[in-house]
Amino acid sequence: MQTQERIAAKYREIYQGSPRLFHSPGRINLIGEHTDYNDGFVLPASVDKAVYFAIEPRDDRNVELYAADLGEHYHFPLDDLSKPSVQWPVFQLGVLDQLRKNGIGIGGFQAVFGGDIPAGAGMSSSAALECCLLFALNEIYTLGLSRLDIVRMAQKAENEFVGVNCGIMDQFASVFGRPGSVIRLDCRNLEYEYYPFVLEGYGLVLCDTTVKHSLAGSEYNTRRKECETGVSLLQQYYPGIKSLRDVSADQVERHKDEMGDPVYRRCRFITREIQRVPEACQLLLENEAQAFGAKMYETHEGLRHDYEVSCEELDFLVDFTRSLPEVAGARMMGGGFGGCTINLVRSEQLDSFEKQVKEAYLGTFGRELPCYRVEIGAGTGEIR
Ligand code: GLA
Repeated sequence: MQTQERIAAKYREIYQGSPRLFHSPGRINLIGEHTDYNDGFVLPASVDKAVYFAIEPRDDRNVELYAADLGEHYHFPLDDLSKPSVQWPVFQLGVLDQLRKNGIGIGGFQAVFGGDIPAGAGMSSSAALECCLLFALNEIYTLGLSRLDIVRMAQKAENEFVGVNCGIMDQFASVFGRPGSVIRLDCRNLEYEYYPFVLEGYGLVLCDTTVKHSLAGSEYNTRRKECETGVSLLQQYYPGIKSLRDVSADQVERHKDEMGDPVYRRCRFITREIQRVPEACQLLLENEAQAFGAKMYETHEGLRHDYEVSCEELDFLVDFTRSLPEVAGARMMGGGFGGCTINLVRSEQLDSFEKQVKEAYLGTFGRELPCYRVEIGAGTGEIR
C-alpha cells in the first residue's frame, strides 16, 4: 500500500470520517550548505518522499493527533500549548504556537499523519511535517496564508519552539518544489529560479550512514554564532556588511589573525561556498557533470575541515567514491554530523555503485547502508 493510502486508511479506521489529505516532501540539496542563514545561495529540490496528513476540523477546541509510524496518540486542548510530555508533537505544537503569535485563529482538528522520509537522514522530515500541517490548516480553515507565509512560519516554529536556529532552505524546498527541477534560491531576498535537473547520463543516489548524532542541534546553533562573530568583527572595517554574503574570500584572508580559529575557518568556508553555488548552476546549464561533481567534492572538504560538521562515516563514504570513475561527485548533505551523502553517479552503473559502497560500509562499520535513488517530486499540496 502506498504511504498516502496507508495514512488515509488509518484515519478512517480511527475516526470513520472523510478527511482531506495533504503532503509535503523531504528535500535534497545539490550544493550550498550552511549558506542559507548567511544570506547566501542554495540549490535544493523536493523529493518523492513526503509527510502526509489526513485531517478534519472538529467542533470543539481540541487537537487529536495520531502518529501512524509510531502507533501513538497525543491529545491536547488548542489553548494549552505547553511543551509535550513526549518529543514528537513538538513540531505540531510549534506550528500552532506560530498561528497564535500571528493572531490567526483556528478551531480544533483531528489528524493522522506519517510518511516515508527516512528519519534522521538529513532530508528534513521535520520541516516537511511543519509545512504540511500549516498548509493543511490553511486549507481547512481558509486562513489565506501564501506559500511564502507558510515557509516563514514553519521556519519560525523550528527556531522558536523546537529550538533549532535553522535557515529557510528546507521549508522553502518542501513548499516550492517542482517535479524534475532544482531551485536556485537567494536566501537574502528569497528570489528563486527553477533549473531542470539534467546532467545527461547521471543520476543521484543518497547513502544513509544511519548515524544520528545528538549534537547536531547544539553544534548547528554554535556554527551560526561563529558566523555572526565573524560578521561583527568585519563590520568594524567594512560597515556596509550585513552578513557573510557581503564578504569576499579576500576580506576573510586579510583579517585571518584577528578572527582567530575557528571563526576564520568557518567564514572561509561560507564565503567560498556562497561563491560555488552560481558557478555550479552554470555548470548544470552546460551539462558539465564532471565539473559539477568536482564542486561537490570541494564542498565536502570545506564542510569536513573548515566547518567541521562531518563525521567519520560521512568522510569514509565520500572518500570511497574518489576511486570510482562512475562517480562524478559526492559530499555530505544537510546540517551534518550524520545523515546522508549525495552522490552523482553514471546512470547505468547505479546498481553496481550501490553494491560496492554497501559492501565497503558494512565491512568497515559493521552496519547496513540504506541507499535511496532520488526522484525530484512535487512540493506541498493537497492530494485529491
Ligand atoms: C539544516 C537546516 C537548513 C540548512 C542546512 C545546512 O538542514 O535546517 O536551514 O542550514 O542544515 O545547509
